[in-house]
Amino acid sequence: MSKEFYRNTKAYDIAFSDREFDTECDFLIWCLHNLGKVKKTKLEKKNFLELGCGPARHTREFAKRGWDSYALDISDEMIEYALHEARKESLQINGIVGNMIDFKLNKKVILAATLMESIAHILTNDDMVNHFKTVSKNLVDGGIYIIEGTHPQFFFPDDETNSWISEEGNFSVEITFGTPEDTYNSLKQTWQVSNKMKIKHGNAPVVETKSISEVRWYLLQEMKLLIEKAGVFDKAWFFGSLYTIPPFVIDETENSDAMVIVLRKAKKKVNKVKFNLDL
Ligand SMILES: C[S@@+](CC[C@H](N)C(=O)[O-])C[C@H]1O[C@@H](n2cnc3c(N)ncnc32)[C@H](O)[C@@H]1O
Repeated sequence: MSKEFYRNTKAYDIAFSDREFDTECDFLIWCLHNLGKVKKTKLEKKNFLELGCGPARHTREFAKRGWDSYALDISDEMIEYALHEARKESLQINGIVGNMIDFKLNKKVILAATLMESIAHILTNDDMVNHFKTVSKNLVDGGIYIIEGTHPQFFFPDDETNSWISEEGNFSVEITFGTPEDTYNSLKQTWQVSNKMKIKHGNAPVVETKSISEVRWYLLQEMKLLIEKAGVFDKAWFFGSLYTIPPFVIDETENSDAMVIVLRKAKKKVNKVKFNLDL
């Protein structure tokens, strides 16, 4: 993981905030109510955990809606930033510096999510299985865990640099996230993604950063096996977007902009998971 890239918290937030966080949170809550199997008394507790949270926009949206909200990230700078932003909005959130592969909350939640490809920072099969087991230990029975990952149809980047400029107030961030020269390790199945930022803030000197992030984009078939190997979820759904409610089954059309995986925590060890697709 490139810690360097996530150190420029404000710039990251500006560059990646062009999303409808409230719509995404509506999707998460729809899944909990329609696919989860949480006891009514626990459902009323309304608690949410965001993993690999970055600026924790979803956590803050849940806090706005009156939920007890937890944000976990391996970067202490990101957690500090998320808490600072929450305070500015007079919101109460719980920030945790931790590793999503192995952590323990002081109470179990009914809903957890890892959004916008944070899951790609988990690089090995063993770590993914441990991650699933850890998430399940922190979820109540019948609770829901949602992952927004890259759709496999976008695995192989086109031959153009992925660059854009985002602005907020007197901040301007020019960002590059992936170039055609990036290398792929075909045995580890990981990309070395080049990240560049050019940050202009008022009259302050321009800051330029360069780093490489190692990420793994998971295939749907291997995800199915890893979910089954973890043995902690009894049902799993693969959807194509966070932006359609009720959700639709993932397909190869352009409507599928992501691989959204919804997992339901089982009461006891599971050998066979029920999937919503027949692939
Ligand atoms: C692509 S950002 C996504 C942030 C956020 N989910 C969003 O929707 O904007 C990835 C985040 O994952 C964090 N991260 C990477 N590896 C992690 C790990 N093992 N445990 C927890 N967080 C991790 C990084 O520090 C970074 O903040």
